[in-house]
Amino acid sequence: MLEEIISKKAAPSISASSLQLFDLGSFDHTSQPNRKISGIGEFDRVVGGGMVIGSTLLFYGEPGIGKSTLLLQIADAAAQNGLQCLYATGEESALQIKLRAQRLGISNSNIKLLASTNLSEIIATTKAMPKNSLLIVDSIQTVATDEIDSSPGTISQTKSCILELTRLAKELAVIVLVIGHVTKEGQVAGPKLLEHMVDTVLSFEGEGTHQYRIIRAIKNRYGSTNEIAVFSMGNRGLAEVTNPSRIFISGFEKETIGSCIFAGHEGSRSLMLEVQALVAKSFVPAPRRAAVGWDNNRLAMIIAILISRLNLRVADKEVYLNIAGGLRINEPAIDLAGAVAIISAAQKIPVPRDTAFFGEIGLLGELRQVNQVESRLNEAVKLGFSRVVMPNGEMALDNNGSEYPQLKIIRANNISEVIDFLIAVSPQRTEQRRRSSDEHWSDEAID
Ligand code: TYD
Ligand code: MG
Repeated sequence: MLEEIISKKAAPSISASSLQLFDLGSFDHTSQPNRKISGIGEFDRVVGGGMVIGSTLLFYGEPGIGKSTLLLQIADAAAQNGLQCLYATGEESALQIKLRAQRLGISNSNIKLLASTNLSEIIATTKAMPKNSLLIVDSIQTVATDEIDSSPGTISQTKSCILELTRLAKELAVIVLVIGHVTKEGQVAGPKLLEHMVDTVLSFEGEGTHQYRIIRAIKNRYGSTNEIAVFSMGNRGLAEVTNPSRIFISGFEKETIGSCIFAGHEGSRSLMLEVQALVAKSFVPAPRRAAVGWDNNRLAMIIAILISRLNLRVADKEVYLNIAGGLRINEPAIDLAGAVAIISAAQKIPVPRDTAFFGEIGLLGELRQVNQVESRLNEAVKLGFSRVVMPNGEMALDNNGSEYPQLKIIRANNISEVIDFLIAVSPQRTEQRRRSSDEHWSDEAID
């Protein structure tokens, strides 16, 4: 552990009369923070309805994911809305940024480029900008302040730079958007240490090779967290995906084996996702179980429940689970869809495509209620699903106060009842998978 020794200045004498006190009782509770809209709807929504003037936002992600591209596009959109922008680039030369702008078709004199790694230069230039401007710092790991004697990217450098930038944001009433890098191991050699110092933390995620990118609000003093925005990377930068449900569900089949539609909810919005499972013969004593886009421990738990409560014969099989489209899901409501995909893959039971699933699964195999039921059902209606399988519980009412006349809602108490549903919807194909005598599964379906 490295200890940094900082010399302590003599404390100035302070008298209470010189300090300003605020009376909590006299606050105007209806006043809202002053925001600037970038004009890129998905981004504005994820930050809570526009960027707050005087706030500092940290935008981090792996190298190459598209941070510089997106922030240049945001600068352009904001500049078209009249916002003055200063893009301070320490990582790339001004020429490189110009080439990117050319590729993106961006030509906007409201955006000024400053190639500098020196924080004092960046601050001085920002001070010359009009009030309420937008400052983009690309990236925090490349800038350094003269106040500290360590090289850029070190903990003390990044921390002092962030501190100065947050002060600058408040003092000048500008918006400061700071880019940070995460390393491949997910270790944030900077951003994680800085989260508490900024107002908003946005993480930019996605599989490098995949076209979809997701912005997730990890922390937001001016909006809800876990809000997501979806973008798609193309030849001319990132495009907003305003209806993510459509892209995360592939194909038009009536039914599929080893895949299931999950009615998920992220932030303030519900979206339909495809959960895929693969169950394969294993040739090693400890078969592999791996999830992409889902928690591995959760997967292991669901498999254990399926084995012990349903006698599903997967103990000696490899099980893989994938959330199509590269999204990462943390909410337990995905349990049921994961379980259905695994059961379907293991037993070759078809799952109807017009049916969406959600619900948490308890250790006894029981289905537990989750939040945002109505929002999920609304999304299912909007996308034309005809059935939803969900935990038994409270009544759900649509916007007209009726019980979703367009949907057949199947309320199940446990996972076993969900299998009864799957069998009921295609009995001729599924009944043979079950051994009639003891309700155990047959091994035949798995090669
Ligand atoms: P970049 O914004 O430089 O990533 P970061 O700042 O996070 O390191 O983008 C990197 C990748 O994006 C690069 O491999 C090329 C790709 N890209 C596109 O696919 N389309 C585009 O229009 C642009 C500008 C970049
Ligand atoms: Mg970059």
